[in-house]
Amino acid sequence: MMMPPGKPCPQELTPCPVDRSAFPLLVRNPGLVYVDNAATTHKPVCVLEAERNFYETANANVHRAAHRLAVAATDAFENARTTAAHFLNAASPDEIIFTRGATEAINLVAQSWGRAQIKPGDEILLTELEHHANIVPWQLLAQETGARIRAVRIRPDGSLDLDHFHAQLSSRTRLVGCTLASNAIGTVPPIADIISAAHGHGALVLLDAAQAVAHQWVDMQQLDADFCVFSGHKVYGPTGIGVLWARAQLLSAMPPWQGGGEMIDRVSFAGTTFAAPPARFEAGTPPIAQAVGLAAALDWLMRQDRNAIARHETALRQRLETGLQRIAGVRLYGEAGNKAPLSALSFTTAHPFDVAQFLDSRDIAVRVGSHCAQPLLAALDVPALLRISFAAYNTAEEVDRILASLEEILEWLA
Ligand SMILES: Cc1ncc(COP(=O)(O)O)c(C=O)c1O
Repeated sequence: MMMPPGKPCPQELTPCPVDRSAFPLLVRNPGLVYVDNAATTHKPVCVLEAERNFYETANANVHRAAHRLAVAATDAFENARTTAAHFLNAASPDEIIFTRGATEAINLVAQSWGRAQIKPGDEILLTELEHHANIVPWQLLAQETGARIRAVRIRPDGSLDLDHFHAQLSSRTRLVGCTLASNAIGTVPPIADIISAAHGHGALVLLDAAQAVAHQWVDMQQLDADFCVFSGHKVYGPTGIGVLWARAQLLSAMPPWQGGGEMIDRVSFAGTTFAAPPARFEAGTPPIAQAVGLAAALDWLMRQDRNAIARHETALRQRLETGLQRIAGVRLYGEAGNKAPLSALSFTTAHPFDVAQFLDSRDIAVRVGSHCAQPLLAALDVPALLRISFAAYNTAEEVDRILASLEEILEWLA
């Protein structure tokens, strides 16, 4: 597909580390300032082309038939698994389970590993930074098994209270579930310390990498965690696809959580035996074209200068947060030393919803609300936050437009 030329990044400010004209939606909406990237990112044209190409040249179901299209589809799907393994530096593609997204991946771990392993009195240690996706599946498991959920507190600046974390860890802790970056206020917890302390108490660690993978390398062999999840759509890929990574040893001991085609070894009415991982955890027809699209997105990201992207995104956040200091009536939430490229705000004279609506009238797309993190907002004692979250394609000029619009609405409301 030929793309019309995109709006170049303004050269006098920090240049974009990626080619904005590769994003069809941004090209079609040259006036749009899209800073709702923590909710979902836009897709480069290579992702759209990969899905289209799959349907046009290789569409068939996977793992089932002997004809050449089925072979091509199976190859494309399994190659996507290899790409995902490469992206996470997993030891083997067999450690990659495709799911609908991060949410389904966490539910899989809770329902499979959790139901088999968790007993009454066991504890699951989460943090106040977690998205509901890393809270509610554990609560469902706890209700079923008699386990207890504990939560590590945050400090007023939004960083994790590590003293509280260590005090909560005990021999009863079976799993620590921790985000690599808060979707609501951006905090990046000191994950290496958390993993080693959890392992020191014999607990497993699940990393929610949904907000991390677009911004930093997440390396399974370096991190030494036990489970890790992310969603395709937050890392320039399609919706409907996500990844669960787990250590091969753990996966092979985990029972199935959904039954159906392709996850079995032999089926009879007398009983069923199950396939080895990853097939054991992928019942039914998987999201084939979405896996192909995800692989294209991950390949695209791995071809970019990821350090330059990280520097650029941090510079955008800092430019925004510095600019906000000159606007009266803005309060920034989340001032931890290490932050993902997002800023969460409230306003003394306006509700965040009204500000978001005004920004929308200026074609600036932000997210507002509790960001699926109600326990975090309760801890911060704030009902709603306006979130501005950056991706590689955002520009310093866009930050200046956001600042000018915020200044305008807040002066008007003062
Ligand atoms: C930190 C975090 N975890 C999990 C999720 C759930 O992702 P999904 O809705 O794609 O399953 C999100 C989505 O916003 C998130 O930000």
